[in-house]
Amino acid sequence: MIVVPGLEEGFKGVFGAGSVTTVQAPGRVNLIGEHTDYNEGYVLPMAIDRGVTIAGRKRTDNKVVLHSIDYRQKCEFDLGSIHSDLSARWADYFKGVAFLLKKNGLPLGGCEAVLQGDLPQGAGLSSSAALEVASATFLQKLFRFDLGDLDLIRLCQQAENEFVGVKCGIMDQFASYMGKEGHALFLDCRSLEYRWAVLPKGLAVVVCDTGVERTLAGSAYNERRAQCEAAVGILAGKLPGIKALRDVSLCDFEKHQGLLDPVVLKRCRHILTENQRVLDMVEALGTGRLERVKVLMEESHVSLRDDYEVSCRELDVLAELGASTPGVFGSRMTGAGFGGCTVHLVRTEAVEGFQQKVGPAYEERTGRKATIHVFNASDGAKFLNGMDR
Ligand code: GLA
Repeated sequence: MIVVPGLEEGFKGVFGAGSVTTVQAPGRVNLIGEHTDYNEGYVLPMAIDRGVTIAGRKRTDNKVVLHSIDYRQKCEFDLGSIHSDLSARWADYFKGVAFLLKKNGLPLGGCEAVLQGDLPQGAGLSSSAALEVASATFLQKLFRFDLGDLDLIRLCQQAENEFVGVKCGIMDQFASYMGKEGHALFLDCRSLEYRWAVLPKGLAVVVCDTGVERTLAGSAYNERRAQCEAAVGILAGKLPGIKALRDVSLCDFEKHQGLLDPVVLKRCRHILTENQRVLDMVEALGTGRLERVKVLMEESHVSLRDDYEVSCRELDVLAELGASTPGVFGSRMTGAGFGGCTVHLVRTEAVEGFQQKVGPAYEERTGRKATIHVFNASDGAKFLNGMDR
């Protein structure tokens, strides 16, 4: 992330000179394990070298004044009355975090801050989670409380669930806070046990943005979640004690799938097979079996396309182009879907060839331009500086 020096200057321009506290939180790309987090399953995301930076200081009153450099917009609210505002949606993520912190009795006061990001928004790279995690880290630093890592992560997720209204799982906030340079994060979304998985040397993580914007707040995401929960309710009739799709084995699923309507059956099949793919992928990456990695990522895409039905034509085209490009060890859509990005593991020396082939071929087939990024796995949220007393 490269926005920091400019940001502190930006702060001065908006609020005047003085010392500030600056924090940063990254976006993420998910390598595999899609829609498994809210089913208490496994995921394998990595934090990326793009994100959100916040610089600010305390005020003496109860007001929060935010200025988004990207939107060139100010948003002001009182901590005693925090409401969502349709004309400044970007501020809702900060407000949601402030709301939850207050609700949990943490000592917040007024503050003023500038915000800036270098993550494409609505592209499925977790600009929302990055903003939530940056907000929580900023407020924690400024008001000197210590939530503890897991509580901070959960609070950010809750802000999105309760304040923004998206029933997301915990993957994005977890990755944004706990990411580690050079590593992906293998997370069990039930126990929240995690371990960092080293990414094989010589492989670049290439992300192609379809240019089709997705809005996660759209009903389709919450609908998928409700379908999974409904399935658990039905299957529990035969499999007492199950709490989430995580608890259903493929063998039990095959035995009882006749109880489910055909759409819900497909949703479950995706979750169960995807969980297994995450475990297999961690193993294959660890042992350098890149051909296996390629198969797993491609199977994941097909499952998201046909069973979970969250892909779109543009994502399918990119996944297909990636799969047929030399030096590529895996191509799939990443994130919630309905637009956004694909992720590809590409041999470093093949990245240029990838760009030369995939960019023009995508444009020819869809009439859209893809933005192609090469991301590095990075550390999670960071405190950059602060002289606030
Ligand atoms: C979004 C949500 C995550 C996860 C993914 C799909 O990014 O925020 O919790 O469910 O979609 O894997």
